[in-house]
Amino acid sequence: MGQVMEKRASKQFGGALPFLLGFLGAAAIGWVLVPELVFCAKEQPFRFSHQTHVEGQEMACEDCHFFREDGSYAGFPRNEECMNCHDVGAPEDRAVVLEAIEAAGGAEAVLAQESGPEDLDSLIVSAEPEDIAAEREMLVGYLLTGVEIPWYTYQYQPDNVFFSHKAHANLTLADPDAGHGEAEGAEAVEAEETTDQANCALCPPAGIESGTSPPPFMENVISGYSKSTMKMWQCEQCHAKMHQDNACYVCHK
Ligand code: HEC
Ligand code: HEC
Ligand code: HEC
Ligand code: HEC
Repeated sequence: MGQVMEKRASKQFGGALPFLLGFLGAAAIGWVLVPELVFCAKEQPFRFSHQTHVEGQEMACEDCHFFREDGSYAGFPRNEECMNCHDVGAPEDRAVVLEAIEAAGGAEAVLAQESGPEDLDSLIVSAEPEDIAAEREMLVGYLLTGVEIPWYTYQYQPDNVFFSHKAHANLTLADPDAGHGEAEGAEAVEAEETTDQANCALCPPAGIESGTSPPPFMENVISGYSKSTMKMWQCEQCHAKMHQDNACYVCHK
């Protein structure tokens, strides 16, 4: 009787060990390798430097990232805002430049070289070769042709998540522990710009607002979501600290 038991026990063990090893191996692949394989790096349409515009041109964040009159958030600026400075002229003038580009072999051929045709060169405001190349891409691909620039949104959230910039504006969000924890306390902060900047800086990628070239956008190849969105626990952690409701329906609609 005892012998039979022993035999069964060792048989069980013999079955469990390979299973356990296989399981750990699969888990290691799942945790370590797959997350890296699942993301694909995509470049923004062209290199845009926040530094050039914020420091160099002394622009405020709200010049490009602003609330519309109805309170909704504009997100990225549209061509028309860029054209306040990158002036490509009236539609007739643009047609002339586009014709010159065609005559020079088309958009691709023109972008492959560092300068020319002359009509295009006369629109360039940058001085450094690297900046000129980026500006040429913007002009030829978008401003002259009237195509809006398809920026990738690092903060893109799944469709079922509701986030309102308006609800989070003008709060001292950057440091909820520092005594401005309550929404009411936030009004005590006077320098509005500083508040806005601190709030925007909460959203990764860190330092983008003062950088010279945006980092690649990491796209989840299965869901299409961005890798660097704020995660649910981060939203909830701040809501908890600031005594906000964390019921599922607050954020999921
Ligand atoms: C001249 C217009 C302009 C100004 C001024 C500007 N931005 Fe931007 N911002 C952009 C454009 C264009 C993008 C998209 C390209 C990119 O990601 O760099 C962007 C992207 C961003 C993003 C990434 C958002 C996401 O989820 O993809 C953040 C954060 C940001 N800006 C913050 C700021 C802050 C903070 C300031 C002020 C210090 C500022 N920006 C000033 C034009 C501007
Ligand atoms: C207030 C004026 C102003 C506005 C508005 C503006 N730019 Fe610029 N931009 C400039 C100037 C000036 C330069 C060249 C600066 C230099 O070389 O020092 C420049 C340079 C650039 C360059 C070359 C690379 C770089 O970033 O330095 C790109 C690309 C560019 N701008 C894109 C944009 C886009 C996209 C928008 C709209 C979201 C925009 N700009 C809005 C003034 C402006
Ligand atoms: C740094 C702190 C902080 C972070 C991070 C934060 N929230 Fe909030 N959230 C607040 C506060 C404070 C309020 C209340 C604002 C008010 O009542 O004026 C709020 C309110 C809300 C509301 C209610 C808005 C309304 O119109 O009633 C929603 C929805 C929400 N947050 C979603 C999110 C989501 C989604 C995220 C993450 C992507 C997030 N929040 C991240 C602090 C935060
Ligand atoms: C404070 C805001 C907030 C609250 C409250 C919240 N969530 Fe989320 N949730 C998010 C955000 C932001 C994401 C997307 C980012 C991520 O995946 O972490 C998310 C993602 C999810 C996802 C994955 C959805 C997808 O399409 O990838 C599920 C499932 C989910 N939440 C369930 C819940 C449940 C259940 C509750 C209530 C117990 C809840 N959430 C409460 C903000 C919130």
